[in-house]
Amino acid sequence: MKLRVEGLTFAYEQKKILDNLDFSVEEGAFVSILGPSGSGKSTILKLLTGVLKPEKGEILVDGQKIGGLSSQFAYMPQNDLLFPWKTILDNVCLYGEIHGSLKEMRREAREHLAEFGLAGYEDCYPSQLSGGMRQRAAFLRTALCRADILLLDEPFGALDVITRGEMQDWLLNMRKKLNRTVVLVTHDMDEAIYLSDRILILNQSPARIVDEIAIEERQRNREWLYGQGAMRREIYGRIMDYVDIK
Ligand SMILES: Nc1ncnc2c1ncn2[C@@H]1O[C@H](COP(=O)(O)OP(=O)(O)OP(=O)(O)O)[C@@H](O)[C@H]1O
Ligand SMILES: [Mg+2]
Repeated sequence: MKLRVEGLTFAYEQKKILDNLDFSVEEGAFVSILGPSGSGKSTILKLLTGVLKPEKGEILVDGQKIGGLSSQFAYMPQNDLLFPWKTILDNVCLYGEIHGSLKEMRREAREHLAEFGLAGYEDCYPSQLSGGMRQRAAFLRTALCRADILLLDEPFGALDVITRGEMQDWLLNMRKKLNRTVVLVTHDMDEAIYLSDRILILNQSPARIVDEIAIEERQRNREWLYGQGAMRREIYGRIMDYVDIK
């Protein structure tokens, strides 16, 4: 098992966010965590990366317990967090700079700029780009990181619907090439169905995984996705079972 989370418990001051959360992710799998807004999805990723400390519980990567900031994870936060004083190329190559492989990463980054719709923008600053372009730059930065496990927090949430669809298609294609374990956090049911081997459904207050759905289909495309109405209905029903209407 690549990643195993056991009994993860966390509170922000008095507010309990996670209570004994358990889940695991197989090597090379693409697993989505789908849940309502405020259910604790971003909190889970911040606990994995060590940005936040759990009250209780364990995180194991390849069977080894990890604690604190970990280099096992490449994390793409929900808000893009590009440095405004660095160019797009320097932002994208941040991990190369940290790990001393800047030259190689610059070469690799230049190869991928076009795929990310960033060709010609490498010397621009983040403020000169649209929100969607900034998000794509942040995604490229994460994809270039060597870590085994990618943690993506609503990576396409800020993109317009057309670009989002293109990026999902791109990610579906890249899955094999990336050859990495991915944990994707999303609100978007179609995105989860389209991209995942498994969907973990999170309930709220405090959050637990209430259900999981395996998706076996190997030959996916948009036509296949459009035919998944029954799965969509089932997932929606399971989420709504747990949403408190206040
Ligand atoms: N720094 C913080 N201090 C106190 N409470 C917080 C803090 N960050 C988040 N929360 C609360 O914790 C809960 C879970 O937040 P989290 O950001 O993990 O949710 P989420 O599932 O990622 O939501 P969204 O889908 O809207 O991004 C929310 O109720 C939120 O208000
Ligand atoms: Mg969030």
